[in-house]
Amino acid sequence: MKKILGIVSSARRLGNCEIMVKEVFRNLSEPCALNLLRLTDFRIDPCRGCYSCLFKDGNCVIHDDYATVLEAIAAADAVILAAPAYFLGAHSALKRFLDRGLSFYGSMDRLWGKPAVGVAVAGIPGMEGSTLLGVESFLKLILADIRQTQVVYGALPGEVFLNDGNREIAKSLAHCLFGPKVPKTSPCCPLCGGDTFRFIGPDKIRCMLCSNSGTIRMDNGAAVVEMEMAEHQLFLTRQDVMDHKDWLIGMKDRFMVLRKTLKPITIDYRKDGQWIKPHSKTDRQTILSNL
Ligand SMILES: Cc1cc2nc3c(=O)[nH]c(=O)nc-3n(C[C@H](O)[C@H](O)[C@H](O)COP(=O)(O)O)c2cc1C
Repeated sequence: MKKILGIVSSARRLGNCEIMVKEVFRNLSEPCALNLLRLTDFRIDPCRGCYSCLFKDGNCVIHDDYATVLEAIAAADAVILAAPAYFLGAHSALKRFLDRGLSFYGSMDRLWGKPAVGVAVAGIPGMEGSTLLGVESFLKLILADIRQTQVVYGALPGEVFLNDGNREIAKSLAHCLFGPKVPKTSPCCPLCGGDTFRFIGPDKIRCMLCSNSGTIRMDNGAAVVEMEMAEHQLFLTRQDVMDHKDWLIGMKDRFMVLRKTLKPITIDYRKDGQWIKPHSKTDRQTILSNL
């Protein structure tokens, strides 16, 4: 029996993300087992940018719940993810985890190509901001095979299913997870399927999901998007992943070569400004006990 991992990136118990994940699971066409992971329950500290994990088989120097979450993803046969819009973007729990992603390379063989579907849940129609991109980036960077993603709307817990159309969306996501992909009907990146672009010239665009650039033009009333593959892209093939990893590892040698040139640039800024420090634990306890 296939093991499905439902990732809920919202702290709200029985909220829209949780019931959406469970509804997609209910509609799977074959019997599967569901494990659930509420990302907000896990302590995921900020990445320190030390790059150690690249040189240590993916092991991170920070000892928190990160490895538990990564192992749950690696152990699953497929992933169903839902995240809410929080201030025009996906809930930060997704990004906190993603920021630790340099160590995903160490689990490449267990992560690559896992079927996955994603849902961005927003309270106000049209106010999802970059939430769908956040959901898609998460799935792409955990090296999953994104079968389908959708935006649904609902503010109060359960409200998402006051609209029957959202149950249909859950069905469609479920059918795509192990069945054929349904191509997007709206214009999207022909390389990765992303549909969030940034204009970088009068008709030049960059796909915010795979980072390739291209052009957009109108043809008989329809937008036509054409893209070219760049040297760095995230991540169309397994080879791209390995190439990117090698490129990152090569940064160490580059740093060694440039170190003496870089040092005077940064050191010049050392004494500027006063740093505001967080309260120490004991200060915090004193403040709280005086309340
Ligand atoms: C702090 C906060 C910020 C939010 N920001 C947005 C937003 O920018 N756009 C939007 O459409 N909905 C926003 N919402 C609404 C949630 O996306 C919506 O209620 C969603 O259903 C929550 O999912 P959940 O029930 O799984 O927690 C926000 C909710 C909270 C609590």
